Amino acid sequence: MSMGEVFLVGTGPGDPDLLTLRALRCMQAADVVLYDNLVSEPIRALLPEGIERIYVGKERANHTMRQQSINALMVELAQKGRRVLRLKGGDPFVFGRGGEEIETLAEHGVPFQVVPGITAALGVAAYCGIPLTHRDYAQSVTFVTGHLQDGSMDLDWIALARPRQTVVIYMGLLGLPVLCEQLIAHGRSAQTPAAVIQQGTQPTQRVVTATLATLAQRVQTEGLKPPTLIIVGEVVLLHDKLRWFQPSMEDDSASLM
Ligand SMILES: C[S@@+](CC[C@H](N)C(=O)[O-])C[C@H]1O[C@@H](n2cnc3c(N)ncnc32)[C@H](O)[C@@H]1O
Repeated sequence: MSMGEVFLVGTGPGDPDLLTLRALRCMQAADVVLYDNLVSEPIRALLPEGIERIYVGKERANHTMRQQSINALMVELAQKGRRVLRLKGGDPFVFGRGGEEIETLAEHGVPFQVVPGITAALGVAAYCGIPLTHRDYAQSVTFVTGHLQDGSMDLDWIALARPRQTVVIYMGLLGLPVLCEQLIAHGRSAQTPAAVIQQGTQPTQRVVTATLATLAQRVQTEGLKPPTLIIVGEVVLLHDKLRWFQPSMEDDSASLM
């Protein structure tokens, strides 16, 4: 039996218009798809009708399939000659375990291609009107994961608390109070502007802005739910002036043509 192949494809932060042309081509060429919870419904709707769909989950603490099983399944399907589409939210190499998945493929001699996607930080910032490195406010931007391990976060707080930089935190909602406290404790001003964005780029996008001192409380009051992205830094001030995306603009894509 001839060997199949795997397309590891990033789908961006949710708006289907942010898919790349290459991603769409791979979606049309595959005969089986493995996708997780960050792949939005409108993107799944673009999959060809006859394609076999396998949900491999991955919400926090609710991993439908363990990473090793996902890797093994991809190898098995490709060895049966299938054209496997591995769809991931955002970019497969940014906090996405795409590297681990293709390491396994390489070890088993399975051919693969990687298609980059717009990572959440870039897509969400664009749709919120928050230019991450606007030169009047920031000299750099850092992406970190705020995943809690035993109630704490293993981050370089001294580096993250330095002024004139933007920090973007993935997977940080649960640890938001710890994150704000630590940044302040390590010297970032309590008045630093900060935002939490829920389901950015999607019709359900919500944005809460505050300061490091008040953000956790505001987010709790507003009842935001994952997936959320946290942006810390003076660039957040620009949101009020530069916001353009109205979540109700839903299905207004025709106006872009
Ligand atoms: C496992 S990471 C995957 C990141 C993905 N590979 C990327 O490049 O965007 C999942 C986290 O990405 C962030 N995220 C992904 N899509 C998002 C969206 N549309 N709005 C806000 N945050 C999002 C959230 O922090 C979420 O918990």
